[in-house]
Amino acid sequence: MSDLRERTVLFLHQILHQHLLPEAEIKQSAFEKMLTLTVCRNVPSLDKILAKFLKHTIPDKQLLVHTILLTGTAELLLMDSPDYAVLNSYVALTKKNFGKILSGFVNAVLRQISLQKDILLQGYQPKFFPENFEKILAKDYDEQTIKKIEQVSRNQPALNISVKKDSSFWAEKLKAQRVNQNTISLKNSGNIDTLIGYNEGEWWVQDTAAALAVAQFSNLKNKRVLDLCAAPGGKTAQMINAGAEVTSLDCSDLRLSVLRKNLSRLRFTAKQIICADALFYLENFDGIPFDAILLDAPCSATGIFRRHPELVHLKTQQDISRQAELQEKMLEKISPALKSGGELIYCVCSIAKDEGENQIKKFLKKHPEFHICPLKNKEEPQSLTKEGFIRTLPFHYAATGGCDSFFIAKLIKD
Ligand SMILES: C[S@@+](CC[C@H](N)C(=O)[O-])C[C@H]1O[C@@H](n2cnc3c(N)ncnc32)[C@H](O)[C@@H]1O
Repeated sequence: MSDLRERTVLFLHQILHQHLLPEAEIKQSAFEKMLTLTVCRNVPSLDKILAKFLKHTIPDKQLLVHTILLTGTAELLLMDSPDYAVLNSYVALTKKNFGKILSGFVNAVLRQISLQKDILLQGYQPKFFPENFEKILAKDYDEQTIKKIEQVSRNQPALNISVKKDSSFWAEKLKAQRVNQNTISLKNSGNIDTLIGYNEGEWWVQDTAAALAVAQFSNLKNKRVLDLCAAPGGKTAQMINAGAEVTSLDCSDLRLSVLRKNLSRLRFTAKQIICADALFYLENFDGIPFDAILLDAPCSATGIFRRHPELVHLKTQQDISRQAELQEKMLEKISPALKSGGELIYCVCSIAKDEGENQIKKFLKKHPEFHICPLKNKEEPQSLTKEGFIRTLPFHYAATGGCDSFFIAKLIKD
């Protein structure tokens, strides 16, 4: 167990102090995942508690000690681990890295926290967003909305599944809740490949909000559709399922191999799979324009922090601006690839309006040949904006476990 704690501390240290997302993420055990999630979802409140026990700020050279204390505090207060095991592990880890003096210090702090556990828990005020991320949110949302987002984001999100057909049948079969005709929602957090229907290719994992984008196209049967940033293929699968002939393009070979694997499990075939830069492809496009295009653009991913709370510690305003620039360039080149009367769906899993609402408004000013087709969403009307876009927030779809923050716009080319 102490090895797992050490790995988690080093992993968290990279996120919190080096602002890097470690590659090792996918190899985490269930314990490591839970500990990582618990720390990432509680950093500001844990820091507030720690501040009561630290007389001085920890010097930059020893910031790993901060991560050790933060992780130890999270485990003492918010997980079920026995206190003696927590103390022993984090003290030993400090000793290994910094020697006796600092391990004595970590021992003293964690011991005090363990002794005062009940009082600390009574006054515990969970805070999810660090200051930087709060600033990002405050650009676009009022205080009350941010509070509502924060409240629901602390919970472990449900598993959402897109089904090929008959969501009522699959809801019953998997003891899930039906969200709508495409999606069901499960509390299950175990191995998905052991669930009925996975190996048979009857469904795939996709957030409720992500699945809304393709559902906004009108009839896709026999339509030629370009999925411009397609991997790992959740939306390609939805479009093939709706009867479209899909050309799936992505610049990442690795991610396209996942798309191929996913389509093969689902017994779906794309018309064409292209590994290319979307900008290069669009600049050089000289084929027959498509009936419809989906641009699920690369984005800051600031809308998926329920499942990836590490993102609130990593993403910056610069990430948003950089991605917004790339999205603008992609949109700028899209028109020749879409036939007249064709539908363009633009979506991003970003909560920042510069990548969503503002991006599309800017595009429409420069491209009068496109107009907005107002969207509908009977199941969650509060996700509709006055302009006719969909903007989901984590407290939407509350009855079925919430959803990620997605922006979706449907534009028609005149
Ligand atoms: C939001 S993900 C797409 C998710 C996908 N549509 C789905 O539903 O599974 C964005 C994708 O854009 C791809 N991408 C990023 N920059 C790109 C570029 N310049 N050209 C093509 N694809 C790009 C990434 O490799 C990534 O797979």
